[in-house]
Amino acid sequence: MRNAFKLLTMGLLVTIVFAACSSSNDSNDDKAQEFIATLDDFQGYTSWTKVHTATGEDPLLGDAHGAKAPLTRNVFFKDNVQPDNGKYPNGTLIVKELRDGNGDLAGALTMMVKRGGDFNPDGDGWEWFMTTTDLDTVLTQGDNATAGGGMCASCHAAANTNNNGTDWVFSR
Ligand code: HEC
Repeated sequence: MRNAFKLLTMGLLVTIVFAACSSSNDSNDDKAQEFIATLDDFQGYTSWTKVHTATGEDPLLGDAHGAKAPLTRNVFFKDNVQPDNGKYPNGTLIVKELRDGNGDLAGALTMMVKRGGDFNPDGDGWEWFMTTTDLDTVLTQGDNATAGGGMCASCHAAANTNNNGTDWVFSR
């Protein structure tokens, strides 16, 4: 009788430990999918796929992204990544640069990174960045609420409506 009880408790313990292990494995899998970018990840972006180039004013831009300067805006996607069912995959890297009439970099670089995991659920996991053009210093970085004091996301929300783009991205 005692042995049967022991067996039962052992069995229960094994089940609990197994359940705990498998659930922690699940959350490890989720974490593994999160992509945390460093400034190195943006190096060499000019050799990525250029999906958009435009110069001058745009009703969607107002004063943003050097539109009134006017500067040329070039948008590069790493590995020419495409949205899948309207969402970009974790690890998506997009850089936008500005160039003046001489072709020299101007202003700052702006980036979107699909970080995923638990990051920025209100913004479908996107992380917003702005850096100096030499990729040396982060000027702003964060989620919808924090990056650029919330300005990046509040304007990019328009990419989700009226066929202006998809998943917070205007250019594709
Ligand atoms: C007033 C609106 C507005 C604001 C504010 C704004 N953007 Fe944009 N952004 C655009 C538009 C419109 C485009 C489309 C490309 C173009 O013609 O400039 C764009 C393009 C981009 C792209 C290329 C991917 C895409 O969506 O096409 C990145 C990356 C980007 N912006 C990052 C940022 C970041 C980071 C901030 C905040 C620091 C920011 N943007 C603030 C309007 C805005």
